[in-house]
Amino acid sequence: MNNIIENKNGILYFDGCNTLELVKKYGTPLYVMSETDIVDRFNQLKECFVNKYPNTRVAYASKAFCTVAMYQVCKREGTCIDVVSGGELYTAIKAEYPPERIEFNGNNKLRSEIELAVEYGIGRIIVDGLQELSIIEDVCKEKNKRVKILYRITPGVKSSSHDYIVTGKKDSKFGIPLDDDVIMKHVKDAIDSEWVDFLGFHYHVGSQLFDNESHLKATKITLDLIKKVKEKYDYNIREINLGGGFGVKYTDEVRKPYEYFITPMMEMINDYYKELGVELPAVVIEPGRSIVAEAGISLYTIGSTKEIRDVRKYVSVDGGMPDNIRPALYQAEYDGVVANKLNEEKNDKVSVCGKCCESGDILIKDIDITSTAKAGDVFAIFSTGAYGYSMASNYNGNPIPAVVMVKDGESELIVKAQSYEEMICNQLTAKKLI
Ligand code: LLP
Repeated sequence: MNNIIENKNGILYFDGCNTLELVKKYGTPLYVMSETDIVDRFNQLKECFVNKYPNTRVAYASKAFCTVAMYQVCKREGTCIDVVSGGELYTAIKAEYPPERIEFNGNNKLRSEIELAVEYGIGRIIVDGLQELSIIEDVCKEKNKRVKILYRITPGVKSSSHDYIVTGKKDSKFGIPLDDDVIMKHVKDAIDSEWVDFLGFHYHVGSQLFDNESHLKATKITLDLIKKVKEKYDYNIREINLGGGFGVKYTDEVRKPYEYFITPMMEMINDYYKELGVELPAVVIEPGRSIVAEAGISLYTIGSTKEIRDVRKYVSVDGGMPDNIRPALYQAEYDGVVANKLNEEKNDKVSVCGKCCESGDILIKDIDITSTAKAGDVFAIFSTGAYGYSMASNYNGNPIPAVVMVKDGESELIVKAQSYEEMICNQLTAKKLI
């Protein structure tokens, strides 16, 4: 438990807020985000990266947690953001995010999304291939604007994480394969284009990583490519984006400090550029999960409990896979507590399940909690700040819960809970069916 999580007389406090009071005020299920923890992560990155090396930036991968308020925090903290859809970009525009500090990723950006990006004047488009380049050129020509681009490459390295969140291997829908004739044609077309300013390369090797090996391999591969571009076209690559992927603590994992990943990559880049004899490039990292995961908890109210003799006990909560799909989708593991009974002995092994009509709707399998847990108690799950709210759905007709931002004992609602009316507001009564 880090210092934003406290036990005061058996009650869970989060960033100074009594979780039972939060539940009284905002209801459950509830996502709670700690501003203190988020800012702390940004400060760690400033210390070991942005303030340590010149010409470096953090672009928060906002797919992890995308809300107007999160963009407000990023804006105030001076970071850049990475968006991956027109919807995320629209949210950033609503937050009046400085356009030059927005970067746009995605393997199949729609023309309408590129139009919105070019119109708003965003800082970078991370281009995934020649088809996209030609759409960008077309849109830029139409709007008489130029954009800065990087190419996302597929470095062809394997990393150890869940298969669904490994992205750097050769067989991937992301990025441009590094076969010489393929990538060099891309580079040439971008250099020659009058509508784009080709800055460099981007890679992202995967997510929830604890070993820096794939990052280092990918950096080396990117630097070799940069050298090739220099030799073949006498063109200086001015920017490298190293992606995100830094692992966080859900249960027993030991989180590595950012330096563990960043320092050796930066040393490699600096050495290489010295040898090339050209000016150091801008270096960008794109962390998502590691900024927000541990800054979030989910609060639920316990409902029915069911003991299947000699098998298991189920403790049901009023949310589940619609507000946290990660256990069902990736077999992700979480830790949790009965928030109003922290001082009671954990003398019962239970499975905490959601309310959906799916046997796989188990939030935590086999966790030790107090045997007195019963309907009306509050159950808190830790480290749900990343890819929880952002992957939420209305499955089984469950409205999307509210999000509250907390800091030093104060709370503010940043996303209202969806009402039933809002949940079905786009549904129409078909005239032909009357
Ligand atoms: N940059 C790019 C291009 C990415 O595709 C991603 C994540 C990131 C940065 C941020 O990676 P992070 O620092 O968050 O690991 N829904 C999955 C995670 C999908 C990650 C997709 N890409 C999950 O809940 O585990």
